[in-house]
Amino acid sequence: MCGIVGYVGKRKALPVLVDGLKRLEYRGYDSAGISLVQKSEIKTWRAVGRVSELEKKLDLAEAGNVGIAHTRWATHGAPSEKNAHPHLDCGKNISLVHNGIIENYTELKKILIKKGHKFSSDTDTEVVAHLIEEIAKKKSFLMAFREAVKILEGTYGLAVITNKEPEKLYCARKGSPLILGVGRDEFIVASDASAIINHTKKIVYMEDGEIAEITPDSFNIFNGKNNHKEDKKIFEINLSDEQVKKQGFPHFMLKEIHQQPEAVRNALLGRVEKFTKDGGTSVLGGLRDVENRLKKIRRMVIVACGTSYYAGLTGKYLLEEFADLPTEVESASEFRYRKNTIDRHTAVLAISQSGETADTLEAVREAKLKGALTLGIVNTVGSTIARETDAGIYCHAGPEIGVASTKAFSSQLSVLVLLALMLGRERKLSFSESKAIAKEMEKIPEKIEQILENKNAIKKLAKKYARCTDWLYLGRKYSFPIALEGALKIKEISYVHAEGYAAGEMKHGPIALIDEKFPSFFVAPSDSVYEKTMSGMQEVKARKGKIVAIATVGNKKIKELADDVLHIPESLEALSPFLSATVAHLFAYYVGTERGYDVDRPRNLAKSVTVE
Ligand code: M6R
Repeated sequence: MCGIVGYVGKRKALPVLVDGLKRLEYRGYDSAGISLVQKSEIKTWRAVGRVSELEKKLDLAEAGNVGIAHTRWATHGAPSEKNAHPHLDCGKNISLVHNGIIENYTELKKILIKKGHKFSSDTDTEVVAHLIEEIAKKKSFLMAFREAVKILEGTYGLAVITNKEPEKLYCARKGSPLILGVGRDEFIVASDASAIINHTKKIVYMEDGEIAEITPDSFNIFNGKNNHKEDKKIFEINLSDEQVKKQGFPHFMLKEIHQQPEAVRNALLGRVEKFTKDGGTSVLGGLRDVENRLKKIRRMVIVACGTSYYAGLTGKYLLEEFADLPTEVESASEFRYRKNTIDRHTAVLAISQSGETADTLEAVREAKLKGALTLGIVNTVGSTIARETDAGIYCHAGPEIGVASTKAFSSQLSVLVLLALMLGRERKLSFSESKAIAKEMEKIPEKIEQILENKNAIKKLAKKYARCTDWLYLGRKYSFPIALEGALKIKEISYVHAEGYAAGEMKHGPIALIDEKFPSFFVAPSDSVYEKTMSGMQEVKARKGKIVAIATVGNKKIKELADDVLHIPESLEALSPFLSATVAHLFAYYVGTERGYDVDRPRNLAKSVTVE
């Protein structure tokens, strides 16, 4: 997804901007560009492809202490140099970069063309530059900027420079994150913290509707309602530069799979203490403020996308089994646009790694409007979803850079287990049941480590199957969401066609696909539905389909049906998803690398999808 960096300070802006763009590369993009204010001129460079392509066109010693930069992920207009940001007005006096979508750009463009403006791209963004230009004919730049953003419909994070005020950078935010890094004699604006943390840990979060006016010495942030100056809090963020690097792993994805034990430990930290003392319940400080409302809820609706959605499906099983709480899981993108029956006895739980996914955010807003209690399970601290939900639980998985989500999934599952136990104890779950689950939960990181130690077996198998172009991923009950997650992961990074199915559904259709060239990946731990899963395996075998199976260690019998078996340690049925997911993630990773792909930056994908 698009990324923004802006600099205003005493240093040369270009090296800071280029470095910032490289740090945003993980978000996924197709082109990049930079504008600098140089004396009374604006100089702009753009390139299609990687930031390294843009860098070839630049001389890092170039003068200019104020500038903006962007990585673009195409929405309106093909990935091309003319569509890459920054975009300028007719007079080349205003340059801006934009994240989000301007929904009324067609109407605005028509009006501006009538007024004589000439457009040079197919983007929605360019209208903003011309709109400001038009209004600035009669007003100060700040006034024009303010007025222009009021006319815009849709979402935006905007960073703007003008040669009329060469020492200033202007920003505005609505629905697309923007943060301001506060350095000594300098400010760095970015769409996420990774572009800032090597310069400063002091951060100001911009809120929707706010406009910022920034010089090397100061910043003013005005609210959108009455243009009053806001007294903004400066936060200290706890994110090291090292955390966002690969630490010796060939890919972020592999590093992050290896961080799954740590991610689970961090999610549990300080939250299961009470199991050894009174009550046998988890301690979720983030929910304290809504404790009473939470006790009264009769229904949970989980909204999320992609991998977070699959964590949500697992959450449904957990919440219904342990908390007796009727739970539905809905794709966030569907939630907003249909009539739903949520009310104040419903809690709507948004799950999101980034906390910026537009579909999920809009679902939260819709739920709020309907009077539901909104909760979040979010990884990125201070993100929009974290801030807009009534209460929430942070995952504490650390930054996830690989586009394919892995460790965030494990930490989301951990938080869901804790939530199910907490709500369960308030309802019918006994102390001994709860304690047993919590105790086993604390062993999960070690069990994931055992899988990681054996990763070469998975690598070998991935090599054997790397040329297969179709897969059916199958699982029942707790293993069903893992089948979906495994299929998504292999699709994303190996560009292999894979379908995730409830194993019991296979015989209702997908079985028609099975032959000796169409393998199946069964998630089949020794659980309450094992025998049923085996029936599905028999059906595949009978049609000469190849089978790879995840099975519990010690299960030798499965070899009678499966061609290849990957073992996971024994655990409780409800916690087996942690273990099978690690295997499925590693399998997808090795198939992707074996096929020669850049698994950290899969084609067409964005880390954080901030458009609906
Ligand atoms: O940041 P979020 O958890 O809200 O993101 C949701 C999905 O976009 C994300 O999980 C996506 O499906 C990943 N590429 C999965 O690997």
